[in-house]
Amino acid sequence: MTRILPSRTDKQRAKAVAKAAELLRAGEAIALPTETVYGLAAHALNPDAVAKIFEAKERPRFDPLIVHLPDPSWLDQVARIEKNSRPLIKKMVADFWPGPFTLILPRRKIIPEIVTAGLATVAVRISAHPLFAEIIRVFGAPLAAPSANQFGRVSPTTARHVLDELNGRIPLIVDAGSTLHGIESTIVAVRKGQIELLRRGPITAEQLENFGKVVLARDVQRYPKAPGRLPSHYAPCTQLILVDDPLSFVAPKRKKCGLLAWRHLEGAKRFAEIRSLSSTQDLREAAANLFRYLHELDQLKLDLIVAEKVPNHGLGAAIMDRLQRASTAWAQSSKSETRNKFKSRKSKMIET
Ligand code: TXA
Ligand code: MG
Repeated sequence: MTRILPSRTDKQRAKAVAKAAELLRAGEAIALPTETVYGLAAHALNPDAVAKIFEAKERPRFDPLIVHLPDPSWLDQVARIEKNSRPLIKKMVADFWPGPFTLILPRRKIIPEIVTAGLATVAVRISAHPLFAEIIRVFGAPLAAPSANQFGRVSPTTARHVLDELNGRIPLIVDAGSTLHGIESTIVAVRKGQIELLRRGPITAEQLENFGKVVLARDVQRYPKAPGRLPSHYAPCTQLILVDDPLSFVAPKRKKCGLLAWRHLEGAKRFAEIRSLSSTQDLREAAANLFRYLHELDQLKLDLIVAEKVPNHGLGAAIMDRLQRASTAWAQSSKSETRNKFKSRKSKMIET
């Protein structure tokens, strides 16, 4: 059984922290809130505990995990920092940690191979979520934590989403309400003084440019296979297409369509359901709502989700990245294989 512990009152919070630390010490994988999305956390230095993350998520073993550190003093214990990259890394870490910023660095042996999927590098970050920070401090060691969803699916921004994905597979979900940013951390590698942006997130490319030249990961041949970067990630069960103008979209006959809108739209009656990412065109609000609305639309038994493009700059670029991947999964799956895979996962989820 999966238990959900609330954390609204001081008493609830103390209980949740104690229970979480106890389960982590016992080598369990449990769901915890972070400021980006909910994570599925286990003792990063215990390979058996980490294996439980892969099992619960049905995540392929070739997909490495992010290691969350209790505090910056752990950095040099888990990673090797090249001498000439150190000043730049120090500056970025001072600005962005704790926060939604993940660094890829050469790995030290203390990190088990299962965490990094055999790679010579390790991904590290320090979460700014107060409850996550408290739990990891009490636990006292790094936690490996990917997003707490089944592999390839939409990331969870509420405890309810986690339950929908992992019910019966993990012993505990610590509930701290909706997550702040709503999309996963920005992932960056630093090499020879150059910043390589591997995954867009709450820390924008524009912010990173204050620290030096930024190159996009798609231009870096070195990282061909990090699955969060597969073209078909973050897919809802319902087909999703991305359009410039929902008002000129012609719905296929007898298809029930939902709209994930950027602008406030009048007269979009052709859509059975509409979710507007932000009533004030605020990209922060839109990012925080993105996965929640995708989850909601996904549960309405629609035939199609039509997503309106958002401005492709700042945080909007991170939102577009997720939407593009979600739509690519479906463009590729007239190959009905993917569709069947998602459908069968969904029914399995309901059974458990
Ligand atoms: O905001 C976040 O980053 C959330 C919260 C829970 O911290 N975590 C998260 O983890 O999004 P996950 O596993 O869903 O996404 C991490 C991505 C994956 O695409 C993985 O392939 C990539 O990071 N990654 C991890 N280690 C890597 C490495 N050494 N080199 C390249 N990519 C790596
Ligand atoms: Mg993920």
